[in-house]
Amino acid sequence: GPAVALVVAAGSGVRFGADRPKALVELAGRPLVAHAVAALAAGGVVRAVVTVPAGREESFAEALRDAPVPVDLVVGGAERQDSVRLGLARLADARGPILVHDAARPLVPPAVVAAVIDAVRAGADAVVPAVPVADSIRRIAGRTSAVVDRASLRAVQTPQGFAPQALRAGHQHVLDAGLVVTDDAAACEAAGHPVSLVEGSADSLKITTPADLIMAEAILVARG
Ligand code: C5P
Repeated sequence: GPAVALVVAAGSGVRFGADRPKALVELAGRPLVAHAVAALAAGGVVRAVVTVPAGREESFAEALRDAPVPVDLVVGGAERQDSVRLGLARLADARGPILVHDAARPLVPPAVVAAVIDAVRAGADAVVPAVPVADSIRRIAGRTSAVVDRASLRAVQTPQGFAPQALRAGHQHVLDAGLVVTDDAAACEAAGHPVSLVEGSADSLKITTPADLIMAEAILVARG
């Protein structure tokens, strides 16, 4: 079946400090969520379900009015994993790869999206784009700490791609076991599914602070 996307955008954006949900903050005159949906479509996704904060349906419908693929809005939940579970219910008929993407990553290159889709089509249960870690890292233990070999570490991005049954099983497991996960691959892994890696991109930064927005503007200018 065709690849579909679940874009999580139901966060309040409290940490970012804007006057609106972070996914509606504009980058080069366009809301982050609109960039995200366009990037997914350019990489091969044919439809998107977007989780939105309760009461913000109209603003998101306006932000996504010119989206290049059909979009359904679903009110999200208290935590990210609740939003994913609610969005997944709207994709019950999906038979092809399901990509779960953070609206906070507006500039994911289409080639990364396509690589994730291809890896799921090639048989992977769960696929994550990953990049090397630039900082040196220490693990803390009480008042001491020890260096961690950075060469063996990867930072994980979205979109993460899944065989539909693996993603559903992962989130059902998380719900049943009362687990908290920070991404969807972790949910699948907790349910016993292996996770594959593809190469991510430095362009696919996560917008967390206003400084990240300045970096994203610069990346767009460099793309021309
Ligand atoms: O807060 P953070 O940036 O880590 O959130 C990651 C993504 O999950 C964001 O795109 C945010 O909108 C989404 N989210 C959600 N539902 C929540 C919390 C976060 O869809 N309850």
